Amino acid sequence: MIGAGFAGAAHVEALHRIPRVRVTAIAASSSDRAAAAAGRLGVGRSTGDYRELIADPDIDVIHNCTPNDLHLEVNLAALQAGKHVLSEKPLGLDAGETGRLVAAAADASATTGVCFNYRHYPMVAEVRERLGQGPAPHLVQGTYLQDWLLAEDDWNWRLEPERAGAARALGDIGSHWIDLIQHVTGRRVTRVHGRTGRLHDTRRRPSERTLTFERGNGASEPVPVRTEDYATVLLELDGGCHAVLTVSQVSPGMRNRLSLHIDTADAGYVWNQERPNRLWIGRRDRPSEEVVRDPASLSPPAARLAHYPAGHQEGWPDALRNLVDDFYVRVRDPGHPSDVATFADAHQVTLTVEAILRSAQDGGWVDVPGEAEAAA
Ligand SMILES: NC(=O)c1ccc[n+]([C@@H]2O[C@H](COP(=O)([O-])OP(=O)(O)OC[C@H]3O[C@@H](n4cnc5c(N)ncnc54)[C@H](O)[C@@H]3O)[C@@H](O)[C@H]2O)c1
Repeated sequence: MIGAGFAGAAHVEALHRIPRVRVTAIAASSSDRAAAAAGRLGVGRSTGDYRELIADPDIDVIHNCTPNDLHLEVNLAALQAGKHVLSEKPLGLDAGETGRLVAAAADASATTGVCFNYRHYPMVAEVRERLGQGPAPHLVQGTYLQDWLLAEDDWNWRLEPERAGAARALGDIGSHWIDLIQHVTGRRVTRVHGRTGRLHDTRRRPSERTLTFERGNGASEPVPVRTEDYATVLLELDGGCHAVLTVSQVSPGMRNRLSLHIDTADAGYVWNQERPNRLWIGRRDRPSEEVVRDPASLSPPAARLAHYPAGHQEGWPDALRNLVDDFYVRVRDPGHPSDVATFADAHQVTLTVEAILRSAQDGGWVDVPGEAEAAA
């Protein structure tokens, strides 16, 4: 495990829940931080230098849970050493980096994947299954709203473009929503029209280093903010389906409100990550219904992801567990079908985010290149 903050800890917990995988070591930005995380998470070995783990022939798989500016370096080093790689999102700082990683993954014989974990909820799989069997979607709406960066003195490395990339709310959480709608509809975003906004042009940065969701207690200094706190985006998908997305890290009361609303000629599907065990299906000619997560009645692809009987709630940690479980099935059997996002999927998301930023800067619609066009 390389990176031992919010994501790294969640990955270790998920791995503790699946069979035949042993988390052997944790790397963090210093040996003290790595040792503290290893103690907390029950892992036997720790290091302040991730290269030690990449050089270790007994380690088969690397989870890259570092800040975004280290994704390229760590993923490339791990692939070059012949390791399987599960990388956190976004795959790189920009499409130049994500494109390089797609090429590196194609050259490697290893299994690679990206942690777009919202794909792995049972009710999301249910929407995907039903969409696949019914009429095409014509309208998609949704949000990804949070409030953890609402205050002027909320701080995180994601506010520094050098560490997180030129897109912040869009790259950090908008990327999840874009991946999710492409995954459930099976359609690529082809063009976008976006606006970005900022609540705070200046924020107070704490003098000590903080992990995600951690607040500094000591002194702070004002620093200018260069990336967006929120964005509104019109999107068009293959086949002409319209979509509209609102992304924000400054929406009071919205802790992690990823939501989807997908209309077809036959049904409307509404799902909200904060109430993940319920899927509302709207109808015109008969009563609308709320389907609850129940492995006994869901479609097989969704039931596979639901481990407890109905009424026993499952959520974010369980979806991550599903993701790592799928990933390790693929590690053992590379031909096995998998819903884990590929490096190419993640590259396509980054191309879309960059097109939104260009539209916000220059105005008007911007085409999103497909992977092959982007490489040309
Ligand atoms: N899929 C999701 O839902 C999800 C959720 C949270 C974070 N993430 C992603 O996970 C990544 C990490 O985010 P986070 O919120 O956990 O950040 P964090 O600040 O909580 O943790 C970052 C970790 O990286 C370590 N690190 C920094 N430099 C390092 C180095 N040179 N070598 C080894 N370790 C180093 C730090 O010590 C820390 O343990 C980001 O890419 C983020 O986008 C994804």
